[in-house]
Amino acid sequence: MPEDGTVSPRRISRRTRGERTKRRERYLLSTGKNNCALENNEISHDISASSGDSAIYSVENNNWDKCQRVAMGNKISNANQTTSKPRDHLYKILVIGDLGTGKTSIIKRYVHRFFTQHYRATIGVDFALKVLNWDENTLIRLQLWDIAGQERYGNMTRVYYKEAVGAFIVFDVTRKNTFDSVTNWKTDLDSKVQLPDGSPIPCVLLANKCDQLKESLANNKNMEEYCQENGFAAWFETSARDNINIDEAARALVEKILEQDALLNSEAKKGSGQFSVTLDSNDQKNGRKSCAC
Ligand code: GTP
Ligand code: MG
Repeated sequence: MPEDGTVSPRRISRRTRGERTKRRERYLLSTGKNNCALENNEISHDISASSGDSAIYSVENNNWDKCQRVAMGNKISNANQTTSKPRDHLYKILVIGDLGTGKTSIIKRYVHRFFTQHYRATIGVDFALKVLNWDENTLIRLQLWDIAGQERYGNMTRVYYKEAVGAFIVFDVTRKNTFDSVTNWKTDLDSKVQLPDGSPIPCVLLANKCDQLKESLANNKNMEEYCQENGFAAWFETSARDNINIDEAARALVEKILEQDALLNSEAKKGSGQFSVTLDSNDQKNGRKSCAC
């Protein structure tokens, strides 16, 4: 250690990721916090103070389970809100697809407006929070679950998918085999998670790395048919690198989720003899390719 008592950069860099995580966890435990952003009200409130602000948090050592419980708790408290108060929704969104298709890059672009060519495979699951001031009465928190491509419809996906209300399936337009896997991902998703009424959760297909394409897929009728046949709410050509269609795709998914949410709420309220409430949503369809399903 240098004489002035500072820790040398070399010493810091020697710590492994695991050690840093453990230190962080020890600190968080000692301060009564954990690394789940959604439980940390200070962070959530800071985030919600300004539009589009967001945060990304790594979930390691099974802390996702705790986050899951917090997410569920928030969802329940939202459901109890009266219509006169501003509505605050927390939606769990899955981002799935083969290895290296660009899931993490899409999330980083969406949440942090940032892109790097450097590839570091996700291990297990990471998650990020995106806060949207949807309209003057509605705040939406998207809890984005970035699931490692190497999970490949394994047993863990059932746990990760629990309570999700929407999903992106990502493939890489430069690697056909990643498109071939999309059906498997979709089947895996639909078999492991459903909305309370038993219907599939809304899912948007992302044809990522479109900056590498010579010819756009936009006029590809097969894609439309494919989406209809396989129950995708919409599909988009995206590029995390060039920031193409990522906001639009997210907006399309949120619109679909709000639609389903309103439908389920109105059904529930009809059952209990109350009036149903239709949620307002901005209809921004720029660059959007919707399927009629
Ligand atoms: P796993 O975590 O292993 O499942 O991979 P991933 O799907 O999270 O992929 P990731 O975001 O790490 O990206 C893989 C590689 O593709 C990285 O080198 C990225 O820089 C690159 N990449 C991601 N999106 C794009 C894109 O839109 N265009 C281009 N050209 N490269 C991209
Ligand atoms: Mg990743």
